[in-house]
Amino acid sequence: MQNRIDQIRREAQAAIAAAHDAAALDAARVSALGKKGALTELLRGMGALSPEERPRVGQLVNECKAELERAIEAANERLVRETREQAARTERVDISLPGRRPARGSLHPLTETLEEIVRIFERLGFVWEDGPEVELAKFNFDELNFPPDHPARDMQDTIFVDAGDRIQKTEDRIQNTEDRIQNTEDRTPEGNGSGNPQSDSQILLRTHTSPVQVRVMHRHKPPVRILAPGWVYRADAIDASHYPMFSQVEGLLVDKQVSLGDLKGVLIHFVHEFYGRDTKIRFRPSFFPFTEPSAELDISCFVCHGAGRVEAKVCPMCKGTGWKELLGCGMVDPAVYANVGYDPESVSGWAFGMGIERIAMFRHGVDDIRLFFEGDLRFLRQF
Ligand code: PHE
Repeated sequence: MQNRIDQIRREAQAAIAAAHDAAALDAARVSALGKKGALTELLRGMGALSPEERPRVGQLVNECKAELERAIEAANERLVRETREQAARTERVDISLPGRRPARGSLHPLTETLEEIVRIFERLGFVWEDGPEVELAKFNFDELNFPPDHPARDMQDTIFVDAGDRIQKTEDRIQNTEDRIQNTEDRTPEGNGSGNPQSDSQILLRTHTSPVQVRVMHRHKPPVRILAPGWVYRADAIDASHYPMFSQVEGLLVDKQVSLGDLKGVLIHFVHEFYGRDTKIRFRPSFFPFTEPSAELDISCFVCHGAGRVEAKVCPMCKGTGWKELLGCGMVDPAVYANVGYDPESVSGWAFGMGIERIAMFRHGVDDIRLFFEGDLRFLRQF
């Protein structure tokens, strides 16, 4: 028995010493200590020994096993060291090679456009406000003075959320959150709603950022001066200028003795900052249920610079008019003040809303809104 153990030990030690890579070392370990290895076989055969012999042989086998395990460990360290030394001898670092430039991302053109808009208005004291994209009809329509039969409420235009019997729960949760916010802020809730219970609980994807106006006015006493950017949704078919999801920036300023002149001054300042001082501007009378009077702001076409013609042909961008519509705006309608608990006699203010995609398209001469949402790097890398 003793001889057999010595023989196994000698053979295994030789194999370990001869191993010049990890695979050979592992083969040496398996053949001695593995499940079918020589030492394991030996242990299995111990049943044939006399009871007096058994503990002594057992001890010898265990000693041999421990010795081989130590040898394998040492050999392993030797192999790792050798590999490292070998690599150090053969690898050369060429410090004259230019470094590899890490691939850097860039801001999406919509993000960049929004940031620039925000920068301009921040300098005028406007602060960023958020509102939910899944909104109540109450805030998207009713409190903004949309009559119950307004065409914008149609399924053709608005994406309604069918919340089934969850509507009431969602409503309660929104109301709870509102109450909590109101209690921690500067005025007690006085929301008188729209008086239209069916519409109060109707849930939709907001069609514009204007509901943030009423949400903010419910929460804050005047003066307010906010900018509210975010996604909006309309049930539009997709084409070069329509997408069911796009983004807007809302602006709202309410204070004492605010005039239409202030609105014009601020928007002219914005256009000059954003598009350059040589951009021409005109205000056209328009209509929105929540502003009175209302206007649309046009800027001179950036392709033909207002001429309406390019090389004696009708300008394809403005269709020959020389103008492009940029945004909607107006003086906040007194009916809206009444809905949020402001006194229409003592406050005045204005609001505007603009589509960010549109603004970015004008700025960069992009002719298809879909490009912003396709994630094609060949498009995005140009910004
Ligand atoms: N919410 C309007 C729209 O989406 C734009 C607007 C905002 C008009 C604020 C006036 C005041 O068309």
